[in-house]
Order: sequence, then C-alpha cells, then structure tokens
Amino acid sequence: MLPKKSAERIAIITGDPSLPDPTKQDQRYSAEDLAVHAAMRDAFASLDRFEFTVIEQHAGMFDKLREFAPDLVVNFCDTGLFNNPNFEIHVATQLEMMRLPYTGAPPRAMTLCYDKQIVRLLAEALGVDVPMERFVPAASVRDAHVPVFPALIKPNTADGSVGITKNALVQDKYEARDYLAWLASELPGRDVLIQEYLPGTEYGLGIIGNPEGEFTPLPMLEVDFSALPDGFAPILSFESKTDPDSPYWTDIRFQPAALPEKTQQELADQCRALFSRLSLRDYGRFDFRTAADGSIKLMEVNPNPAWGNDAKLAIMASLAGWSYATMLEQLVATAWARITREAVERGRRSPVR
Ligand SMILES: Nc1ncnc2c1ncn2[C@@H]1O[C@H](COP(=O)(O)OP(=O)(O)O)[C@@H](O)[C@H]1O
Ligand SMILES: [Mg+2]
Repeated sequence: MLPKKSAERIAIITGDPSLPDPTKQDQRYSAEDLAVHAAMRDAFASLDRFEFTVIEQHAGMFDKLREFAPDLVVNFCDTGLFNNPNFEIHVATQLEMMRLPYTGAPPRAMTLCYDKQIVRLLAEALGVDVPMERFVPAASVRDAHVPVFPALIKPNTADGSVGITKNALVQDKYEARDYLAWLASELPGRDVLIQEYLPGTEYGLGIIGNPEGEFTPLPMLEVDFSALPDGFAPILSFESKTDPDSPYWTDIRFQPAALPEKTQQELADQCRALFSRLSLRDYGRFDFRTAADGSIKLMEVNPNPAWGNDAKLAIMASLAGWSYATMLEQLVATAWARITREAVERGRRSPVR
C-alpha cells in the first residue's frame, strides 16, 4: 500500500533531558538545551499541518510510539538511546523492527560515521582531501608518537566535541604527552586520532534531500573565531557546545562562507558522493577546514546532525531564506518523498495481483 500524500501524524523523538548526557556540561541538560527543545515544539506547532507528539523520555518511548501509531517518526534522538552515544543506532534499528518509517540516517550510516578513521579512509578513496592522521589504539594512547606538529588530538569515536578541549591543539611533544595522558584517563578504552592541525577557516556544508530525489546543498557557513581571547585555540571545543559562560560559547560566530561559487559546488559534489557512500538519508552536515597549503579538507560527516534552532543546520537553512519551521517542514517532506519512492519501488518488485 502506498503511503499517504503527506505525513499527517508525526511523532518527534529527542534526547532525554531527565537522564545524564555525556555531551553536556556536567552531563546535564541546561536551560539553553531545554529552550532548544521548546523552540522545536513551537516551530512544529506553528506549521499547523501536523498532528504531532514530542517524546523526550526514553523509558517507555517505544510503547508510546506504538500507541500513537504515527505516519512518520522524526528521529531527533541524536544523543542515542538513554543518551548513550553508543546506542544511537539502537533507536533507528528498533524503529525498523517496529516497521515505523522515520526521518534521517539508517543504522549503517550512523555506525560508519561514528568511526572517524573509517570516514577519512572512504573519503580519501573518493578523492576528497583529508588531514594527515595517525590512529592510536586505546592501549597505546599514553606513549603514542606524534608524527606532526602542530597536531590536533581527539577521540576516534565521539560527537559533540567530547574529548576536544582547548588543549587538544598541541605544539610540541610535552603538550602532546599531557593531552594524551588526560584523554587516556578521561576517556579510557577510547582509540585516539592524532591529526595534522588544520589552521585555516572552518566550514560547514548542510544538505537536505536524497541523491535519488531532490538534493539541496544549503549555502555554506564559516566559523568566525576572530573574537576569541588570546590563548584560546580557534577550534569548536567541548566548551563551545556546552558552556554558555565560556568565550568559546559567547565569542564564536557563524557567517556565510566567503568561498567562490565554484568551490562551494565542488565541495557539494564531494558531499554528494560521501552522502551515498556512507548511506546518509534525508539530511546531513559535513565539516571541513582549510589546511596550511590552502586545500580544504574534510574533518567529519554528521549523519544525525544537531537539529536545534541554534545549530549550524538551522543557520545554513536561514542563509537559504528558510525559517526554522520551514527547515523542519522540508526535513519531513524530504523523508516522506523518499519513503513514498521506496514504497513504489517495493510495489514494482512484488506487484499485487
Ligand atoms: N585536524 C583538525 N584541525 C583543526 N581543527 C580540528 C581538527 N579536527 C577537529 N578540529 C576542531 O575540533 C572540532 C570538533 O572536531 P570533530 O572532529 O568535528 O568532532 P565532533 O564529532 O566531536 O564534532 C572541529 O569543529 C574543529 O574546530
Ligand atoms: Mg564536528
């Protein structure tokens, strides 16, 4: 049976504010985080076209979904089930087992992209510029050799800049030793990447769509670190995403990328190839940074990027002239168009007699 023309009943699932979350300061949702949740709910309400429910609590979440029986689940649970980043795929997998259509990345994309070394290797094979890098297994982190300075040291698997403080940028072997020791004690058991530090401009490229249908790269944005006080490395550290009192939060701005149209198009083409190869769906965000030689290198791929009204994706959507509510509406429409295409495809393969 073909789905309805458009999704009418939708359930939106998010991270659980009542549980600890390792990507937040002190593992707790802040007033700012709660405001982001409220703004999302208000934006969906303002569209006045969906019957919707927002489910934040993870205990009993799937029972509530079964009961509500939505046409579509908007999977904004970017924290993972029970706010455990390793359980990000569990939500998508469970929705599949319940045969509930949902927006965004399938488990495969989340698994691939959570491992930054894998993303880098696949990107390199597709001809995308990537930073020089050394992978350090968890057991050898404390005495890892750093092949290049300055270097940026970070966990191989993490999101939300967990494990990336202002000291992640190291200039010599002493700073490197200290940071590696800190990582080994703070995130024990975690493999580490030592990368060439990319000193130039940082860019974000957001996409809404799917390669088989409409595929819309949003205008790129760049990060303006120029107002940061001396001594603050120009990176999007953990504090930039979690601590409203830090200069990293107050003094960093996003602005339209000052890049020629042609360069933006080339990067969008790379993102399209990565989007397919990494099995992303409906939307995603790609982060780049400029190397010392001027080339723009891929840092990471986010198959389940932050969806808040203050997040990069919403800022990029605003550069395209979309309100936040319009962005959410587009996400739903894109997912629904894909789900309809998939249903038609299934029907073709097994025609009803
Ligand atoms: N090789 C690098 N050179 C310079 N800055 C980097 C590098 N890798 C990461 N960063 C900085 O750290 C931030 C977070 O790194 P990223 O790999 O995107 O981790 P996360 O998945 O936690 O967002 C980036 O936005 C960037 O500012
Ligand atoms: Mg990032």
